[in-house]
Amino acid sequence: MQEISANTNPSIPKEEFYSDLVDQINAITEDQTYWVTNLSNASSVIYHGLKSLEHFQKKPINWAGFYLVDPKNEKNLILGPFQGKVACTAIPFGKGVCGAAAATQTTQLVKDVHEFPGHIACDAASNSEIVVPIVKDKRLLGVLDIDCEEVEGFDDVDRKGLEAVVKVIVANCEW
Ligand code: SME
Repeated sequence: MQEISANTNPSIPKEEFYSDLVDQINAITEDQTYWVTNLSNASSVIYHGLKSLEHFQKKPINWAGFYLVDPKNEKNLILGPFQGKVACTAIPFGKGVCGAAAATQTTQLVKDVHEFPGHIACDAASNSEIVVPIVKDKRLLGVLDIDCEEVEGFDDVDRKGLEAVVKVIVANCEW
């Protein structure tokens, strides 16, 4: 059985944390190809790993998970594996932070969700958010969404780290 937390040292620099997180997610996904299995374990490792960091103890993570392109409506995202409170099940492309990441295929780093036009408030505790698109060969597969209870929860180090996490997930799953 693999360890599920990426690193338990709360004061580790975030760059190092993300490098360990990528290795950890590679280790738990490289022998499986089914996306449901891999995204389920990935959401757990991301959520608990981020929560263990000093930065995210001051700015707590309250949701981490995936929305996938809906096979029945390719202009919609549908809820996938996650950790956190019950969330909205469908998000049209272009709506909210997830929909913006899907429509533009670019990471959305939102310092204050209340200033983001059309933000969808699944959990009233969320104040900042980062959404990374999951893209393979230019085809959008879904998004990785992480919410934080405080404003300015995420920065460019998180963006780069989470984009690297998504890359390893894309490589290790059959889509
Ligand atoms: N806030 C997101 C919706 C999903 S939840 O945060 C889990 C958005 O605006 O797209």
